[in-house]
Amino acid sequence: MKKIIIAIDGHSSCGKSTMAKQLAKDIGYVYVDTGAMYRAVTLYAMRNGMYPDAGIQEEELKAAVEAGKIQISFKFNAETGRPDTYLNGEKVEDEIRQMEVSNRVSPVAALPFVRALLTQQQQEMGKEKGIVMDGRDIGTAVFPQAEMKVFVTASARVRAQRRFDELMGKAKTQEELAALNYEEVLKNVEERDYIDSHREVAPLRQAEDALVLDNSDMTREEQSAWLLAKYQEIVAKC
Ligand code: DC
Repeated sequence: MKKIIIAIDGHSSCGKSTMAKQLAKDIGYVYVDTGAMYRAVTLYAMRNGMYPDAGIQEEELKAAVEAGKIQISFKFNAETGRPDTYLNGEKVEDEIRQMEVSNRVSPVAALPFVRALLTQQQQEMGKEKGIVMDGRDIGTAVFPQAEMKVFVTASARVRAQRRFDELMGKAKTQEELAALNYEEVLKNVEERDYIDSHREVAPLRQAEDALVLDNSDMTREEQSAWLLAKYQEIVAKC
């Protein structure tokens, strides 16, 4: 069967990664989480003193990017059944999901030199097709020619609740649990929506030829079935 490129874009915390991962597994495709790549660059900047509270030190980060000091890769983890993210050879899968990174990633993702680097790497990963890539600009900027494009959304409150539940599930200590605050998570979701949709380079927007999936009231199984049916329809026509 012909291999295609599947681009899954949409708002943060709407379950894109979960459904993209499941689809990739169902059809034997490679799955790439591009948000993890922006998070890894953010973590690099934070660890190297380039992102103090005052804001990103753009010149220093740009120099690091240009010098090739930020290498991002993925390795499949058979235990979890999904790829883990590596930054310069170190597994950073858990660290990049922390709130400190979530709170800082959107401004990093708005930097043109960061987008240029990651877009090029993502295009390289999709050269052979047979890929499900999720992000914000996959169907508009990375693979405008993708055979299947999906734009996923859900209300901000539904998304904040899902993110909150996920963070609760991941909290390891009582302090971590006590520090979690739904209103703060909602604020983070809304702020990220705003920055992601209003940046100058490759803002989050729905591609004209994207299929829209509002999953506010859908179960995971319903979403998976919807995606699989759309994939089968599209691939049959290719
Ligand atoms: O999907 P996520 O929440 O892990 O994404 C993290 C951030 O990276 C989010 O602010 C949007 C940004 N991002 C982007 O600008 N372009 C992408 N292709 C993927 C993510």
